[in-house]
Amino acid sequence: MRTLVVGAGALGGLVAARLHASGRRVSIATRDAESASRLRVSGLKGSGVGGEALIGSPDVAPLDAWRGAGGFDLVLLATKAHDAIRVAPVLTALLGPGGFLLPIQNGDVARMIADQVGEGLVLGGLSNLGATMTAPGSYEQRNAGHLLVGELAGGESVRAERMRAWFGAAVEARVTQNIRGAVWAKLLLNCSVTTIGAIAARTMREYIGLPEGRALFDRAYSEALAVALASGIRPARMIVDSVPPGWTGRTVPGDAHEAWLREVVRAYGDVKPSMLQDFERHRTTEIDFINGHVVDIGRTVGVDTPANEAIVHTVQAISHGDIAPGPEVLARVLTLRRGPLS
Ligand SMILES: NC(=O)c1ccc[n+]([C@@H]2O[C@H](COP(=O)([O-])OP(=O)(O)OC[C@H]3O[C@@H](n4cnc5c(N)ncnc54)[C@H](OP(=O)(O)O)[C@@H]3O)[C@@H](O)[C@H]2O)c1
Repeated sequence: MRTLVVGAGALGGLVAARLHASGRRVSIATRDAESASRLRVSGLKGSGVGGEALIGSPDVAPLDAWRGAGGFDLVLLATKAHDAIRVAPVLTALLGPGGFLLPIQNGDVARMIADQVGEGLVLGGLSNLGATMTAPGSYEQRNAGHLLVGELAGGESVRAERMRAWFGAAVEARVTQNIRGAVWAKLLLNCSVTTIGAIAARTMREYIGLPEGRALFDRAYSEALAVALASGIRPARMIVDSVPPGWTGRTVPGDAHEAWLREVVRAYGDVKPSMLQDFERHRTTEIDFINGHVVDIGRTVGVDTPANEAIVHTVQAISHGDIAPGPEVLARVLTLRRGPLS
């Protein structure tokens, strides 16, 4: 499979290095010529879980330079969500017959891209692989995670199986018949576990013991789940069941719910929210594709999402430098929720 990885950040760089190390030919597109030149000099080096992987002389060029190259069977789209939506229409021109885009962003990005360019050109994907870029060209794998792929319409998929085989031993790739359910299961956690962690500048394990942290988690998660179910999505089971026990359209307090919450904390309580890094580096966050997406879809299916809306406003306020992330922000979010937004 002739493969182009678009975006040599944490995830794209790591996957490209692992594919190359397992003998696969892979080309790389960067945002600009300067990044491409830097990578030509540094090469790409993967490390951490899964061991070392090196591309000494990468086949790398800025995205613009690939225009007209054509003939790719697989374009792995590994930019942030806003960039993925922006470049996807350009990327379809690079595909050969039967070729497809594989977006692996958090959120329902593959669905949005398919709405732009057509479902035939897009395979759904997500990443449970954790990676960070320690320096340009150096990528550290943080867990033994995998890529999950499947048809957005559901069901079996020849091209998903082809992709799994192509990734082979380089990176574990699994195929699912319910990729939208998996995407939304992850979205439910991103909306609550990680976004609340980012605004509180704490992990979930740390903030869930605070009354405001707990209240906000319950509300943000319940709203997002209600939106998913009202849109006909069946959120898949991840490490923990996506639907809390006894769910009746809202969280039912009690022992079973507390046990479910303990499982969520055990599985995800120590995840460091990457949005916190976005704040520190003054980078655009993916909030519009996480809690913001829940708010947007909530409007279309008639489900109120005041807690998610308040979280979006708060993330925007932090990004603009109006307030700083920290545990005291949680009370502010709850006030916003009861105020003009509710
Ligand atoms: N990292 C993880 O562990 C992880 C896990 C699960 C899911 N995800 C999701 O995967 C996506 C990527 O995450 P990441 O952590 O790898 O982000 P990242 O480190 O910011 O990497 C994105 C890369 O894409 C590049 N890029 C932006 N626009 C481009 C364009 N038009 N053409 C070519 N390259 C372009 C960026 O270049 P610049 O530096 O110039 O902007 C950057 O190198 C996100 O949606 C994230 O939520 C990440």
